[in-house]
Amino acid sequence: MPDPLRRMLSLHDFEAAARRILPKPLYAYVSGAVEDGQSERSNRQAFGEYGFRPKVLVDVSRRHTRCTILGREYAAPVGVAPMGIAALTSYRGDVALARAAAAAGVPCIMSGSSLIRLETVMAAAPGTWFQAYLPGDSAQIAALIDRVAAAGVETLVLTVDTPVAANRENNVRAGFSTPLRPSASLAWQGITHPRWLIGTLLRTLARHGMPHFENNYATRGAPILSRHVLRDFSDRGHLNWQHVAAIRRTWKGRMVLKGILHPDDARSARAHGMDAVIVSNHGGRQLDGSLAPLQALPAIVDTAGGMDVMLDSGVRRGTDVLKALALGARCVFVGRPFNYAATVAGERGVAHAIALITEEVRRDMGLLGIVDLREVDPGLLQRGR
Ligand code: GLV
Repeated sequence: MPDPLRRMLSLHDFEAAARRILPKPLYAYVSGAVEDGQSERSNRQAFGEYGFRPKVLVDVSRRHTRCTILGREYAAPVGVAPMGIAALTSYRGDVALARAAAAAGVPCIMSGSSLIRLETVMAAAPGTWFQAYLPGDSAQIAALIDRVAAAGVETLVLTVDTPVAANRENNVRAGFSTPLRPSASLAWQGITHPRWLIGTLLRTLARHGMPHFENNYATRGAPILSRHVLRDFSDRGHLNWQHVAAIRRTWKGRMVLKGILHPDDARSARAHGMDAVIVSNHGGRQLDGSLAPLQALPAIVDTAGGMDVMLDSGVRRGTDVLKALALGARCVFVGRPFNYAATVAGERGVAHAIALITEEVRRDMGLLGIVDLREVDPGLLQRGR
């Protein structure tokens, strides 16, 4: 059989291949955005609003993509964004994502909405960052944070753009919920997607048993497939900066807030001792009509002080990475395409996808006349193409 990765020439190419493999509700969950998809569309459009002004006749033969993020050296400024239930869209997905990133020398953020124990992923890929959704009450938060520290996590990412559940109509239409509810149509989706059924679901059940949400709390959560069990979506609506302050008092490692779009929030993050923020609209999956992170970035960089500013949402090309860096991001994270890459070819697929976008960055640096990413500045761009 020909290697499917030979046809994967850009991050865009993984989506169609993964779509054929995945049952419809799972593809809908990964690909979907919220309401009318305005946020998701503007994420991509924002990159098109800037044009490059390359410098020519620069000796770029020694260019490299190495960079420093939160004081650590990485091979490239492109990491893996946290993505929920990755172990249902590819076999042991969280491990595949984290191991591929570690081997490539780029950061990876493990999602807290995951079906493999955090401790397992940290053992497979030490250095992985962990993204927590905070439970509703303080005792549960403290217990989760203690567990994360005990697992050896050094970089804790708190996602703060989910105070209430998003209006994911596409999930309802596609029959996706957590837990998934057994039904004739779900069974049909399994039967008609045999590669996923055998290679991911049955293999997981045989080797690891029924997947459960493992990392929303200090203890195990709901199973992924159940007729009756309700997931505890306990209200996060009351969470506020005091919770962030309380965690900062006990958390010894680096701490990052993800989901920042307002400069006032970047200022508060700094005042609360955060090491970094991730400018993000959650891949267009939370509030529809929110600003694209690239548009929000300059004002946040201005207020960030000593914090690293990172960005996710809509990054697909090396040129996107360089535009974000030019506007002040230290690095970017990519979500869906790496998820699709894991579906297509597991860890090898993710490694291929990371290599593709890293190579694009390297090539684009050559075309722009840049040898070291520290040279990238706003002068590289002009707005209003
Ligand atoms: C989880 O963070 C999601 O966007 O589904």
